[in-house]
Amino acid sequence: MYGSTPPAVSLLAPCKINLFLRILRKREDGFHELASLFQTVSLMDRLDFWEEEADESKPLCTMEVSPDSLGREGIPTDATNLVLRALQLYADKTGERRRIHCRLHKAVPAQAGLGGGSGDCATALFAANRLAGFPATEAQLIEWSASLGSDISFFFSRGSAYCTGRGELIEPLPPLASSPCYLVKPPYGCSTPDIFKGLALSPGQDLDGEDPLKLLGSFRESVGDAPYVNDLEPPAFDLRPELRALRDELATLGFDAVMMSGSGSTVFCIGEPDEAVRSTWQAEIASKYEAQVFAERFCMRPADEKLWYAEEP
Ligand code: C5P
Repeated sequence: MYGSTPPAVSLLAPCKINLFLRILRKREDGFHELASLFQTVSLMDRLDFWEEEADESKPLCTMEVSPDSLGREGIPTDATNLVLRALQLYADKTGERRRIHCRLHKAVPAQAGLGGGSGDCATALFAANRLAGFPATEAQLIEWSASLGSDISFFFSRGSAYCTGRGELIEPLPPLASSPCYLVKPPYGCSTPDIFKGLALSPGQDLDGEDPLKLLGSFRESVGDAPYVNDLEPPAFDLRPELRALRDELATLGFDAVMMSGSGSTVFCIGEPDEAVRSTWQAEIASKYEAQVFAERFCMRPADEKLWYAEEP
């Protein structure tokens, strides 16, 4: 479509895992109050952005999905895609009339608990602001992003953040030390609303469990030795007993920790497995559970408001 024209901006959008995820209460508005330690991981989508000639008769923002994208057929390119919603929201908030086209190279699986769509959405907001010369502050982008979904604001941190509310209130943390992180994605996804519904809480009802601030303290001391908790594992395992079997088998391999991310269906493994299985476990798990295994690491964003992930300061 663009021949050899290079994109004006090409950015990487990492995915996330939840190192712990406590659900505290179901709110009267139907959302769940949560407390979670979010961490970015090096499995990334790429998004290319072009400015197009002004033309009032054409839509302000358009997108396409690259042919090499994972799950290409299932990715909408209409106004329901969070990338287009982000570009449109940016135009509405700032009055910018630049026409922007995005080509999405998808590598992060969907319905995986990895925040793939949310990372793309945050990246599109950042890109629109960069193309316009950074007229909006990062605080404004964070505020606007909360209206598009619960875990989009997080991506404006440096990659480690304690998130509360419905997930949109972020307390950025100094980046956690990088650690090996394997993502194991079974062939089925989990629907976030269905998993939350499975908690079966009534409006106003609390869910008891560990104090999240105590959990946060343990993780800041040592990611390898901290207690891993995800309150969405029980409802996800009820819906998908085979996911529990996958988690339980991974937990026998000697990693520092094994847990489901977000509302699933990805299970992540922190650290390295026992020496005896190191060269065989990925192929065995992939074949037994029809799973994709991604060997990744924690990643971080440079400490510069004008730079995005995987950019050199
Ligand atoms: O905000 P987001 O679009 O990511 O949420 C998807 C759905 O997940 C919500 O409509 C809601 O059913 C559920 N959810 C929730 N509590 C949260 C976040 C999401 O109940 N904190």
